[in-house]
Amino acid sequence: MPLLEIRGLTMKFGSLAANRDVSFDVEEGQIVGLIGPNGSGKTTLFNCVSGAYRPTAGRVTFDGTDITGMPMYKIARMGLTRTFQIVRPLSEMTVLENVMVGAYLHCADRARAIETADLCIKLCYLEEWRDRPSGAMTIGNKKRLEVARAMATSPRLILLDESAAGLTSTEVNDMVSLIVKLRDEGKTILMVEHIMEAVMPISDKVVVLSGGAKIAEGSPGEISRNEEVIRAYLGEKFSRRLAEANARRENRDE
Ligand SMILES: Nc1ncnc2c1ncn2[C@@H]1O[C@H](COP(=O)(O)OP(=O)(O)O)[C@@H](O)[C@H]1O
Ligand SMILES: [Mg+2]
Repeated sequence: MPLLEIRGLTMKFGSLAANRDVSFDVEEGQIVGLIGPNGSGKTTLFNCVSGAYRPTAGRVTFDGTDITGMPMYKIARMGLTRTFQIVRPLSEMTVLENVMVGAYLHCADRARAIETADLCIKLCYLEEWRDRPSGAMTIGNKKRLEVARAMATSPRLILLDESAAGLTSTEVNDMVSLIVKLRDEGKTILMVEHIMEAVMPISDKVVVLSGGAKIAEGSPGEISRNEEVIRAYLGEKFSRRLAEANARRENRDE
C-alpha cells in the first residue's frame, strides 16, 4: 500500500480548476518530485493534501486512512507535514523557539520539546543559529529552518514546497544533501521544485502538472525525454541540462 494515495483530486476556485482530476501515489521511503510551470497547481495540491483546503472532488488517503478535508493539525498529528514556498519563520523568535513550535505538536513538555528541537536543529545544520533570532538569517538558513520545524513534528511524509528556490548553488547542494539525508532516515518526501538539477538526480519518480492536470509521471529519465513535458515545461534547453544531470547521477551511481 502506498503511503499517500491521491485520487481524482480536483480543486476549483470559482470557475478556475487549479487541480483537475489528479491521481498519483507516493510510496513509503521514496522521494517524489512534483514539477510544472508556474500556476500549474502544485501549491494548491499541497494545500489540499495537507488539509489547508478541502478539495472540490477526489480523495486523499494517507497510510490507509481517508484524510480528505480533515483539518491540518489532525493530518499533521498523523505524520504528514509540509513546508511553505514563502518562508515565514516567526522572526522575533530564536531558531530554537521556532523549531519548538513543531515539537509541541506531539508533546506539551518544554524539556522534551527542546530535546526534539535540538536534534532537528543539528540535522539541518543550524546549531550556530540556535539562540539567535531567525529574522536575521539568510534565505538559505530560513529554508533549512522550515525543514527543521517540519521535522520536529516527527513526520512520516514531508511535503517540501520549493525548498531550493532563491538559494545560491552551494545552498542548493546543501539542501539536496539534506533532503537525501531525511530520506535515508526513513522519511518519505514529496517535493515541488523548479530547479531541475536539484529534483531530478534524487527523485525516484517525477509527476508533472500543467494547467492543473497531470500530464506525465515516470522516472526522471523518462520525464526528461517526454515530448509533452518538454513542450509544456522543460523546453529544449532544460531538457539538455537535465540529460546532463542524469548522466552525472549515473556516473555517481557507478
Ligand atoms: N486561494 C486561491 N484563490 C484563487 N485562486 C487561486 C488560489 N490559490 C491558487 N489559485 C490559482 O490557482 C492556480 C494554481 O496556483 P498554484 O497552485 O499556486 O500553482 P503553482 O504552485 O504550481 O505555481 C493559479 O492560477 C492561481 O492563481
Ligand atoms: Mg507554488
